[in-house]
Amino acid sequence: MIWEIAKTLGLYTLYMTIGYIIFLVYSMIVKPFLFWRKYRGYNNVYTRSSFIPMLGDIYYHLKSIKAGYVHYFHLIETADEVNKHDMKVVNQGITPVLSIVSNKAMTEFINLAPAKIDKAGYNAVFSVCAPKTMALMRTKVGMPKRKMMVGLFDLTRASKYIPGILDRCEEVCSNLKNNETYNLSYEMIRLTFGVVTSVLYGDDIHTLVNQLRDFEKPDGTFEKINLCEMKIRCIKSYVMQQFHPFTLMLPFLRNYCLVQPFKREWNNLQRSFDAVKEIVSKSQDTKSIYHQAKKADLYDDEGLLQEMFTITGAAFQSSSEFICSSLYFLNKHPETLKKLRAELSENGWTKGADLKKVCTIDNIQNCEYLNMVVKEALRIDTPFPEAFPYQAYEDVEICGVPVKKGTYIVVDFISAHYDEKHWMKPKEFIPDRFDTESEFYKEAMKQGQTPHVFSRRSFNHGVRKCPGQTLAILQVKVILAYLVTNLDVEISDELLNKYGIGFGLGSEIPLTAKVIKR
Ligand code: HEM
Repeated sequence: MIWEIAKTLGLYTLYMTIGYIIFLVYSMIVKPFLFWRKYRGYNNVYTRSSFIPMLGDIYYHLKSIKAGYVHYFHLIETADEVNKHDMKVVNQGITPVLSIVSNKAMTEFINLAPAKIDKAGYNAVFSVCAPKTMALMRTKVGMPKRKMMVGLFDLTRASKYIPGILDRCEEVCSNLKNNETYNLSYEMIRLTFGVVTSVLYGDDIHTLVNQLRDFEKPDGTFEKINLCEMKIRCIKSYVMQQFHPFTLMLPFLRNYCLVQPFKREWNNLQRSFDAVKEIVSKSQDTKSIYHQAKKADLYDDEGLLQEMFTITGAAFQSSSEFICSSLYFLNKHPETLKKLRAELSENGWTKGADLKKVCTIDNIQNCEYLNMVVKEALRIDTPFPEAFPYQAYEDVEICGVPVKKGTYIVVDFISAHYDEKHWMKPKEFIPDRFDTESEFYKEAMKQGQTPHVFSRRSFNHGVRKCPGQTLAILQVKVILAYLVTNLDVEISDELLNKYGIGFGLGSEIPLTAKVIKR
């Protein structure tokens, strides 16, 4: 009898294991392969010439890194070919995704959102660490929260933060020693983190933000680090979790944080939430986004903390990447730096000037060349290579191509930014391309290479574009103007002439430079 039961149980276990293996093979290999093969049949969809199981397009990222380039450099190299199409197939590891390329596809995509195409209810990072964020909600559901946030980030309100931004610049720059070499990528992260936490949590809490706190290391021991470092590590670990075998094969172990490293990272995340809770409870700054959002009463306490976590993540690294790219390209093209300095100086940005008096919204808006530099830096090395994931909630068609319900969709930013149909000499850093009076602009017009509104995509477009765009551009302009006025940044010729450089999301290339105080 016992033998019979054991045999039956054994058989069931065997069948379940076989079924599970078939399921894994189907979802990890067969499904992405069928997706790739289906779209090979469409002339206006770009597909790679061969299918790479499991790794998919991650293979090309790894290849770029191996060659010493930034991981997304292959997207710039293939832009000419991709731009002959409306869309492209990307296999993000085992997840097949359609990526929007042409402006025509972009127009149709925007028109289908949010009723038929909307943000995916799943995002590898947010789903686990901030499940209540509006970034994961259907547009209709999250709209009141989004509207409130967009209102809080608008230019009139954002201008109140200028003195705080200048204070953070002063703080970070005064800690830099003259003639010393620094990893500016790290220094800029500290700077933008200071700015973003001032704006979000309060202008009176930097000592608390910089306080050292416990963070658990993989060996189980604790290390004391500040909130900025905690955030960087939490975000990194949540990105890396995507590639953990358990995330692929037994996702519930990750979703419920049942085993290491998920358990440890969850505890670390709670520590960073606790730190934020303590910080905001001590802030008296009623103009902080947190306090204003709390007053609006659209979130419960946990939800608001998660939203702040998401916004901080979306805001500080992207902004610091953007500043690093701007500094790099300005130094690679000294004539652009000279022109920028001349404009800033004409507008009162001189060393020793009282910048809190000089820097008003009107003053910053007056600096047209600064605006062009920022636009060009965003174009040539956009902080995010693509949008956060969207999903088709019904069967739809884009540019005549059927897209089945459930398909993940992203928007390709890099190809559009390097599209020769719209940009003359797209691989070159030329801020003058935005100056309607310049010879470059006139020549591009003559050749019919005029950008379309969708040719610049760094913040995406449509109902779910970045809600922090105005604040992001304002803070980066102020920081850049401050740095260029007060510092010379000496980057080695080796780094300036290096092929395949980039400082966008996930770049492991540090902007190392000697800092000389002006
Ligand atoms: C250079 C800096 C920045 C860039 C390039 C950038 C870009 C983006 C992009 C591409 C998205 C995804 C849009 C989409 O998937 O359609 C996004 C989303 C978002 N960004 Fe930004 N961003 C920047 C700074 C900021 C700042 C400063 C804030 C807030 C203070 C912010 C808040 C957000 C939020 C909350 C979302 C999620 C929106 C949603 O899903 O509805 N970002 N950003």
